Amino acid sequence: MRILLLNGPNLNMLGTREPEVYGRDTLDEIVAKVQGMAKELGVEVTALQSNHEGDLVDFIQQNQMTADAIIINPGAFGHYSYAIRDAISGSNLPAVEVHISNVHAREPFRETLVLSGVCRGVVTGFGWRGYLYALDLLVSTAKEGK
Ligand code: DQA
Repeated sequence: MRILLLNGPNLNMLGTREPEVYGRDTLDEIVAKVQGMAKELGVEVTALQSNHEGDLVDFIQQNQMTADAIIINPGAFGHYSYAIRDAISGSNLPAVEVHISNVHAREPFRETLVLSGVCRGVVTGFGWRGYLYALDLLVSTAKEGK
């Protein structure tokens, strides 16, 4: 099983970006934790971070035939990118949307989540652990054939 791990704009700044909101782990450290869990579960993770919407769309399109699932923290794109929504939907892959912070406890514009309707669900507010919960969900349901 191969899982795509996508991170959108500004997530490359984790560690120094608003640590009171996003914690002190860098994206590399978080990806390493996901890779570590993936190894234990016997699955492969292919990761990409980009600040550019089209790069995320391209990555989904280029990998959709050979991947089995998507974990995506779209950053701010999660609030308005219909292009990424269409790419996830068009891939036919099961996806989980992750937000490190609790987007429902912040500014009103973060309440709008345009990708979540084409995802299995959303993990929001559990810090870096949210990525691991998403991985667990996708691998467990795949093993159950769901
Ligand atoms: C975020 C939440 C978004 O609202 C924000 O634009 C981000 C990070 C999160 O992980 O909590 O860039 O996706």
